[in-house]
Amino acid sequence: MIEELKSHIKSVEEYTTQSLDEVEAFRIKYLGKKGILNQYFAKFKEVPKEEKKTFGQTINQLKQAAANKVESLKNELAQQIEDKGIYGDLTRPGEPIEIGSRHPISIVKNQIIEVFANIGFNVSEGPEIEDDWHNFTALNLPEYHPARDMQDTFFVQNPQNDGNEDLLLRTHTSSVQVRYMENNKPPIRTISPGRVFRNEDISARSHCIFHQVEGLYIDKGVSFKDLKQTLIYFTTQLFGKSKIRLRPSYFPFTEPSAEVDIYWGLETETDYRITKGTGWLEIMGCGMVDPNVLKNCKIDPKEYTGFAFGMGIERIAMLLYQIGDIRMFYENDLRFLKQFKSTF
Ligand code: DAH
Repeated sequence: MIEELKSHIKSVEEYTTQSLDEVEAFRIKYLGKKGILNQYFAKFKEVPKEEKKTFGQTINQLKQAAANKVESLKNELAQQIEDKGIYGDLTRPGEPIEIGSRHPISIVKNQIIEVFANIGFNVSEGPEIEDDWHNFTALNLPEYHPARDMQDTFFVQNPQNDGNEDLLLRTHTSSVQVRYMENNKPPIRTISPGRVFRNEDISARSHCIFHQVEGLYIDKGVSFKDLKQTLIYFTTQLFGKSKIRLRPSYFPFTEPSAEVDIYWGLETETDYRITKGTGWLEIMGCGMVDPNVLKNCKIDPKEYTGFAFGMGIERIAMLLYQIGDIRMFYENDLRFLKQFKSTF
């Protein structure tokens, strides 16, 4: 029996745990009412006289060892909890982290930027609150020009209210062209993505806030064929489709001006619907920068020529992702947004 007690003492001394619940279980196992110690105390009567002394000493050693162990484990664990402080138990499994995803408008914007960056275009930006000069006048739209009606403008009252012109929310990113030409000398190769605002009724196809990308290339000897070649490169890279056509059009800031259609095809029912049965889709406006615009930006039109283009990002995103309603982009519905994954 003494040997048994000694082996209990040994395992008590070796015992360790990280859990307070287990310390309590250990205490009950040895020191509880029906615990190991009491079982041995009960056997005291049966021990032969000459062994009683050693038995008593050993059983007391076991009791002491168990009590010491309980005490020291409790202290140790309490100290650990205190050390972890406000961070709690650092070994606990972490809370699952929700990984966000990019907005489809950002994904498409970044794709467009990449396509143009590969042929030497940089990215420029301008303010969303603009003045009349950069949004209209410098772009060859004088105050009473009928083309101003093409864009219903949100005006912002001049904060100083000093009789000077009111500010406005830019109606297109063409305003950044002007700012860029005012501040940089040719050769210029820049694209300007950004948010634009128009006082339009909200529907499945149009919104009062949307995004555009403006492109501008100014250098000596830039011609319409450079424009066309750049557009073919762009549509091939972005859509995998190289068949385009340029329809004569009018913009006050370009001359000549054109609208760009891409041949989308008529393979599916959706193709029929979105191209109204023609196979062709309009994707942007473009043209050769009007000499008046160059002059307004202090660039000599006799020395330099250039082209410009402008496209709506929502429209392109709707085509690429087959989205039927522009309002989806602004509703922040996670079930919609989580479907878009990108490496950009
Ligand atoms: N600013 C035009 C719009 O908002 C788009 C545009 C057309 C931009 C032709 C251009 C361009 O630079 O050359 O509808």
